[in-house]
Amino acid sequence: MTETQFTPRVFSGIQPSGGLTLGNYLGAMKRFVDMQGPEFETIYCMVDLHAITVWQDPAALSHNTRELCAGYIAAGIDPEQSILFNQSQVPEHAQLAWIFNCVARMGWMQRMTQWKDKAGKNTQNASLGLFAYPALMAADILIYHATHVPVGEDQKQHLELTRDIAIKFNNDFGVDFFPVTEPVIEGAATRVMSLRDGSKKMSKSDPSDMSRINMTDDADTIARKIRKAKTDPDALPSEVKGLEERPEARNLVNIYAALSEQTVDQVLTEAGGKQFGAFKPMLAELAVSKLSPISSEMARLMGEEAEIDRILARGAERAREIAAPILQQTYAIVGMVGAGKS
Ligand code: AMP
Ligand code: TRP
Repeated sequence: MTETQFTPRVFSGIQPSGGLTLGNYLGAMKRFVDMQGPEFETIYCMVDLHAITVWQDPAALSHNTRELCAGYIAAGIDPEQSILFNQSQVPEHAQLAWIFNCVARMGWMQRMTQWKDKAGKNTQNASLGLFAYPALMAADILIYHATHVPVGEDQKQHLELTRDIAIKFNNDFGVDFFPVTEPVIEGAATRVMSLRDGSKKMSKSDPSDMSRINMTDDADTIARKIRKAKTDPDALPSEVKGLEERPEARNLVNIYAALSEQTVDQVLTEAGGKQFGAFKPMLAELAVSKLSPISSEMARLMGEEAEIDRILARGAERAREIAAPILQQTYAIVGMVGAGKS
């Protein structure tokens, strides 16, 4: 463990690899907004270098990066208070990632479940970037000496690897330089599931659009998707225990709890005994009331491309002010001549 006191600093990122889903919003973005405040410095990123570990059409990547930026702001990230930028514009991420490629071991990467899922059977044909992805993610976090990283449940293993990289670097070089970061995986919606299959994560890459709620869906679409969501024939229980073995029911209750900022217990106190015929309209109404203002603000911001680009450029400048000296110190620790002068 490190002895150094690090500035409380939050870092997190989302890939601009498609539209934003309700899973991204509840599992990540809404929690990023909640962490803004006097307690932490907050840094949020569109991780475009991560996105290209699988093929991205260039025009779509640009569009999705701007749309993600609009999503962050519409959800409540204040670009004055937080630092908001796209990863490729802060070259220190890729530079530190190279150092970490030389610290991390092949065996560590091979164990990553996301690698196994995304590479599929034909690992020989996956990009080298997809394999090295977790080292870049560690660099994203540690280039700011970030101490807290809010993410959804699916990123837990990557954050453990980030800790392993920090510890190995500190040990190898006999320093106390990188913090051992705390994952922040909290709340009712750290794993929002598909509306069609309660055993699968809600994902922007699912072939069925009915499986997810997109942040750009209109009110009718949101209501229709919730109405058609898979459920079971039983009424809602009045206690959490009654949701065990009922993944679809649990998912809808979790979504309700996260959107209404209540605990699952509180929701069940109110909704226990109701059939889905009654609960689904309540959920649809709540979802529309929370998501519609965000999607209309996103659409408005997307009409102001120059403003988005200005915000991203300013964010990158501010991010570099923190990242550049940490990279130089890292280079100096590793023994690179000329380092440490920034
Ligand atoms: P990604 O879209 O893969 O870049 O994910 C960005 C953030 O959203 C990460 O913190 C993920 O853990 C989170 N996330 C993505 N999908 C879900 C989901 N279905 N439920 C909860 N969090 C999610
Ligand atoms: N790997 C994350 C995801 O797919 C995105 C990500 C990249 C990230 N770098 C990060 C999240 C750093 C938190 C911190 O969801």
